[in-house]
Amino acid sequence: TTNHRIALIPGDGIGAEVLPPAQQVLDVMARRYGFNLSYTSYGDWSCERYLREGAMMPADGIDQLRDKDAILLGAVGYPGVPDHVSLWGLLIPIRRGFRQYVNLRPIRVFEGIDSPVRRARPGEVDLVVVRENVEGEYSEAGGRLNAGFPDEMAIQETVFTRAGVTRVLDYAFMLASRRTGRLTSATKSNGIVHTMPFWDQLVAERAASFAQVAWDQEHIDALAAKLVLEPARFDVVVASNLFGDILSDLAAAVAGSIGIAPAANLNPEREFPSMFEPVHGSAPDIAGRGIANPLGAIWAAAMMLDHLGHPAAARDITDAIASVLAKTDTRTPDLGGTATTAEFTEKLIELL
Ligand code: NAD
Ligand code: IPM
Ligand code: MN
Repeated sequence: TTNHRIALIPGDGIGAEVLPPAQQVLDVMARRYGFNLSYTSYGDWSCERYLREGAMMPADGIDQLRDKDAILLGAVGYPGVPDHVSLWGLLIPIRRGFRQYVNLRPIRVFEGIDSPVRRARPGEVDLVVVRENVEGEYSEAGGRLNAGFPDEMAIQETVFTRAGVTRVLDYAFMLASRRTGRLTSATKSNGIVHTMPFWDQLVAERAASFAQVAWDQEHIDALAAKLVLEPARFDVVVASNLFGDILSDLAAAVAGSIGIAPAANLNPEREFPSMFEPVHGSAPDIAGRGIANPLGAIWAAAMMLDHLGHPAAARDITDAIASVLAKTDTRTPDLGGTATTAEFTEKLIELL
């Protein structure tokens, strides 16, 4: 039987509460489809470890993950450790070290979810944010100067490279051509002078190779409004690192809760493991109460199975997500219900 080596990094807060449900669902699929998942758990790679040992993961952490077929991550970040320390000590090194330059974030409005947006009707909203994941606004270029003086300053440079932008655009155009053939580029070339016009230029260049894709570009501010007003209009939305981050939480909220949205951090060339995680963070405000919505993590697990060559198993999982919402009123509090994480997971597994 096919064996897949999976690294599990639960992380902090609700990260550790939503990974076991995802693993339960994966195990049902492994039995049904006759493949094997061998897990290695990195349970202590977390803010707690940082406070104890001064690092989120061991010095050779990236090397420990290198031989895995995929990584499933909960979330990192917890009060007491500055976010830039926890994230740059674990999540971001994995995305960069393994050249996971595509961050794929699908959004659907499922039947049975009350979207806060009246015009986001079930079935009509089915879009995917393709987020550039390793450069852009999240660069290491810049610095803090003149600490403590009146002329103290912080500089953060945005870095767009031709190669880096082109490869994520190609992924997005390809994806659009396999879906409805529509692509929207999120930009801000009316306000950001150097990088965004370069992004736009590269979009126009790559579009020439994908004649079957109807594309347009929207300024990020206007796009944010349109995603709320007319979410059904969009299919593939391609965006820089920071814009894609913001749009994916926005679109998830339009779909009812950021607790349901998944993310696939892909190394499309498969030279390195890809990483799958919910879009949301460690949610310290609800951590420890057993009420986190597990659907984002479970959907991320489905994306992982698809990536590992089990599309039917992935579809079973997304079908079960759709059924649990359409056919039952079991829901976690973020979706207006009273179920716990465990009860919601159990109901979903019944329908799987
Ligand atoms: P967050 O996503 O953790 O929480 C935002 C809000 O959404 C909170 O009110 C939270 O309770 C709610 N929420 C999130 N996920 C939910 C779920 N599954 N079910 C129900 N409600 C849910 O974002 P934040 O508050 O900005 O960040 C908290 C911490 O998480 C910070 O340390 C941040 O840096 C970190 N973070 C980590 C990741 C990651 O590891 N990939 C992603 C985002 C944020
Ligand atoms: C996400 C998160 C991270 C990001 C943070 C925590 C660094 O918000 O995965 O969406 O911005 O990439
Ligand atoms: Mn985010």
